[in-house]
Amino acid sequence: MSERERARTVVPFRAKVVEPIRLLSREERRSRMEAAGLCLFALKGDDVYVDLLTDSGTGSLSTQQLGAMMMGDESYAGSRSFDKMAGNFTALSGLPYVIPSHQGRGAEKVLNSVLVRKHSVVPGNSHFDTTKAHIEFAGGRCVDCTISAGLDSGAAHPFKGNLDVGKLRETIAHFGPRNVAYVLITITCNSGGGQPVSMENIREVSAHCREQGIAVFFDAARFAENAWFIKEREAGYADKHVREIVREMFSYVDGCTMSSKKDAIVPMGGLIAVRDAGLFEQLKTPTILFEGFYTYGGMSGMMMEALAQGLEDVMQEDYLRHRIGQVARLGAGLRAAGVPIVEPVGGHAVFIDGRRFYPGVPEDEFPAQLLCVEMYKEGGVRTCEIGANLIGRDPDTGENIRPALDLTRLAIPRRAYFQEHLDYVVDVVATVHEEQKGRTRGLALLHEAPGIRHFSSTFRYL
Ligand code: F0G
Repeated sequence: MSERERARTVVPFRAKVVEPIRLLSREERRSRMEAAGLCLFALKGDDVYVDLLTDSGTGSLSTQQLGAMMMGDESYAGSRSFDKMAGNFTALSGLPYVIPSHQGRGAEKVLNSVLVRKHSVVPGNSHFDTTKAHIEFAGGRCVDCTISAGLDSGAAHPFKGNLDVGKLRETIAHFGPRNVAYVLITITCNSGGGQPVSMENIREVSAHCREQGIAVFFDAARFAENAWFIKEREAGYADKHVREIVREMFSYVDGCTMSSKKDAIVPMGGLIAVRDAGLFEQLKTPTILFEGFYTYGGMSGMMMEALAQGLEDVMQEDYLRHRIGQVARLGAGLRAAGVPIVEPVGGHAVFIDGRRFYPGVPEDEFPAQLLCVEMYKEGGVRTCEIGANLIGRDPDTGENIRPALDLTRLAIPRRAYFQEHLDYVVDVVATVHEEQKGRTRGLALLHEAPGIRHFSSTFRYL
């Protein structure tokens, strides 16, 4: 290994406190999965050996975060911990007004209750499901303007989260700028495979929207990972610090919602940040109604301290190099085993293409969900379907939507698992792949949960 290569393998933390986990027997796993109705969300955490269900709220806190938490100020109004958190976020983003929320979807509910009206539209790049649901709940509709490469699991493109600016222009022209509530750029694009959006694309989208008088917002849950990809992949950014890149990214938007459970590495929290004082005033009332007073918004002082420090932790480049590298290594292991993954590998997760993994299983029989079930049974590994079950039904016609991609997501919690865990996961997936090559039947819904069916629907084998 060259010195440069070795530097890329540096793990910039070590474990000081550990959480015991265990692997149930094959028989126990089979019966737990059946009792859960083949729904991964119905398993108990203790039923799981390696939990790749989500990277949300599952990261390990740093010693600095734990230390800071002891300084939490639980004042109902005007908490010192709020000032610290908001100050750090403003320093990062340049957005002057910050409102905490209990998690990302709380921020979405508050923002959309103010910005979205009946029949307004919110164009974006593959909106996350809670985001889409909140826009629809407020009477609006989402229009997906992701570039076509972003919908093709095999297409090589460094920024598959990008918006198709042509499609965005057409959408705005079609609905009329007055009916566009705002444009939402999700960084990185979770539903599209954790794929980044380039600075050039953010700049272009923003320029067009400014011309049209339309606000642009980020769904900023994974803003730091997006910035790292810009540093690695976009011309002109290799020598810039991620902090500078983040600052430039936010300079093109009017505000953001953020789940703080991802890149800000806290178990619970979220925020809204905006540039406009008038909008900030409008957001206060729904925050008080739904979340809490606007200097805590459902977060404790302790959590706001951890969040303030989490924003510092995630801006360390050795952290991001290891983080993105660890996910890439998992992807490389799976690729080497012949498993069809979404390329290139995203920031927080590796996505397996369910339809290519089970080419014999009909698309309507939930191949990605089937893979989630089989991975658990094979090795106690929990993952999550991002596909036909998640996308649900068209709110207007009630018809099942057939998504462009039917994916199994292996989301990697931050600073939590060792390489041994991930090597084990590769072996489990490779075994399922090998042993279920000729499979021709998948799953059918047993109980379909109304509305958001992702979390609680159950299935049966066909
Ligand atoms: N936006 C994006 C891009 C997300 O990935 C999530 C959550 C949210 C918003 C909502 O935030 O959970 O704090 O309310 N994603 C989690 C996941 C649940 O597993 O991908 P939240």
